[in-house]
Amino acid sequence: MIKNTKALVLVSLLLGGVCTPILAQDVQPVGKDIASSPESIAPAFHNQPKENELAPLNYVNQPPMVPHSTKNYQVTKNTNQCLDCHSVQASRTTGATRISPTHFISRDGVVSGEVSPRRYFCVQCHVSQSDVEPIVPNEFKPLPGYGEK
Ligand code: HEC
Ligand code: HEC
Repeated sequence: MIKNTKALVLVSLLLGGVCTPILAQDVQPVGKDIASSPESIAPAFHNQPKENELAPLNYVNQPPMVPHSTKNYQVTKNTNQCLDCHSVQASRTTGATRISPTHFISRDGVVSGEVSPRRYFCVQCHVSQSDVEPIVPNEFKPLPGYGEK
């Protein structure tokens, strides 16, 4: 209970000031579920090209873009089809770029012979490219010395 009337007035002022406009005006329509929310904009996406040129890097330590389609390549707990071509062993016969040493370093800095769990889900960092309109405007410019030649 608030016995002090001054405090009571203050609290109601605060609540009134803070809550009323939020309730009245600032509520954005969110839709019944994710699909009907205004942020749910489907990108104009089409099939990835089967193969493209290796995209130029744009900044230091950028994971290189994937220059081929990754459609239907499974990366799950039990199988990693990227490694079927990109592992150190496989790369000797497939001609795919060998994963680099950083992919073997655990988050504690321990180097092992196995791909580190934090580098296991390849498409978390490496994505293929398609020629589509960006959903969100983007003014990123490559760092000096990077980008298209
Ligand atoms: C059937 C074999 C094969 C599979 C499976 C495969 N790749 Fe590749 N990948 C290649 C080859 C070959 C190249 C080299 C292409 C070139 O140099 O033109 C390559 C290139 C790349 C590159 C560019 C490397 C560079 O040189 O900068 C990345 C990144 C990559 N692949 C990621 C992936 C990911 C992620 C997956 C799984 C979703 C995957 N690859 C699955 C064969 C494969
Ligand atoms: C957490 C982000 C991350 C994940 C996950 C990841 N990579 Fe990378 N990858 C990088 C970065 C950053 C580079 C560039 C710098 C480096 O080598 O560390 C790279 C480089 C590469 C290269 C080029 C190596 C070279 O010598 O040019 C290949 C190929 C590659 N990754 C394949 C893969 C594959 C296959 C997987 C899944 C098994 C994978 N990566 C998972 C971040 C990641």
